[in-house]
Amino acid sequence: MSMAPVYWFLVFIGVCCLPPMLVGADEQQGEGCSRSANRCGNITISDPFWLADTEAGRSCGILDFKVTCYNNSTASLRSSVPLIPGFAINSISYKERSLLVVDEGKQKLLEASSGCGIKIGNTSAKLDTQFKIDLSNLNLILYNCTKESAVAAARRDGGLVQTSVRCRNEWVVFVRAGVHHDRIGNYARYAMEGCDASVVPVLASLSGKTNASDYEQLINDGFLLTWEAPPPPLPAAAHGRHNKKLILIGMSIMASAQKMHETLSQTSIL
Ligand SMILES: *[C@@H]1O[C@H](CO)[C@@H](O)[C@H](O)[C@H]1NC(C)=O
Ligand SMILES: *[C@@H]1O[C@H](CO)[C@@H](O)[C@H](O)[C@H]1NC(C)=O
Ligand SMILES: *[C@@H]1O[C@H](CO)[C@@H](O)[C@H](O)[C@H]1NC(C)=O
Ligand SMILES: *[C@@H]1O[C@H](CO)[C@@H](O)[C@H](O)[C@H]1NC(C)=O
Ligand SMILES: *[C@@H]1O[C@H](CO)[C@@H](O)[C@H](O)[C@H]1NC(C)=O
Ligand SMILES: *[C@@H]1O[C@H](CO)[C@@H](O)[C@H](O)[C@H]1NC(C)=O
Repeated sequence: MSMAPVYWFLVFIGVCCLPPMLVGADEQQGEGCSRSANRCGNITISDPFWLADTEAGRSCGILDFKVTCYNNSTASLRSSVPLIPGFAINSISYKERSLLVVDEGKQKLLEASSGCGIKIGNTSAKLDTQFKIDLSNLNLILYNCTKESAVAAARRDGGLVQTSVRCRNEWVVFVRAGVHHDRIGNYARYAMEGCDASVVPVLASLSGKTNASDYEQLINDGFLLTWEAPPPPLPAAAHGRHNKKLILIGMSIMASAQKMHETLSQTSIL
């Protein structure tokens, strides 16, 4: 009798307070979630990637690896920042654990008839935590120059090419090519006064050189991402894993919300 309160407290915690989704995660994940490969156009979607089921809306894996298939032709990875275009998948190599993706936001930027109301973001800022930008990529740097003196200086700079992206006489975007990837994301030495810089990875050509004049083609050709092998499944630790997964999902939702809060305004961020 005297030990009952502690005991019942533990039972209470164990039975009542674990969210049902946590307890039933294994069953839910199995049900209706195909473990076998799916296709989107000519791209094979298999573990760790999974195809979003828009009708049932169920989750069949880690959110970062969710692939949405449009018109059985375009496979897309979401952006980690809500409401901002993600990445179109051109190909996946399961052996190399790499994928070739195109930043759909940057494509939209180039297609926009007027740049007014658009803001460029760093491509890396909307990448989910499971993915890394491969070190073999080269970067473009897009400079949004607002000051007249900065625009004049950019025009004189032989390493820069003026793009078609601009808003009247308010600002104009220039591009630099061939910037090597920096592990810690420090591009300070490429800063230009009076211009905001955004970093966009693109594939390095076989010659190892890229020409800034080709910026449209380079953006449309995409860049390489890699992913880490997920740890092998351990059935005994299943609940712990789901716990961690849920915590990770929770954290990424919080991070996303924060990013959204920081960046959202009337302008669309691409
Ligand atoms: C999707 O496209 C692929 C190849 O383009 C084709 O083999 C497949 O049958 C299509 N699937 C559906 C559901 O239309
Ligand atoms: C997949 O289809 C696209 C066009 O829909 C094509 O450009 C690409 O080369 C194809 N990839 C493979 C591996 O067949
Ligand atoms: C749907 O896919 C087909 C071929 O895969 C393509 O020809 C067509 O343009 C696509 N439609 C849209 C709306 O993207
Ligand atoms: C360029 O900078 C201006 C001023 O900060 C901003 O309003 C505009 O949205 C930016 N344009 C792009 C394409 O980022
Ligand atoms: C892009 O990232 C660089 C550093 O990595 C930062 O200095 C710059 O402000 C970022 N640009 C935008 C538009 O957020
Ligand atoms: C880059 O391309 C432009 C236009 O095609 C050409 O005029 C220029 O010489 C090229 N620059 C280099 C460094 O190859």
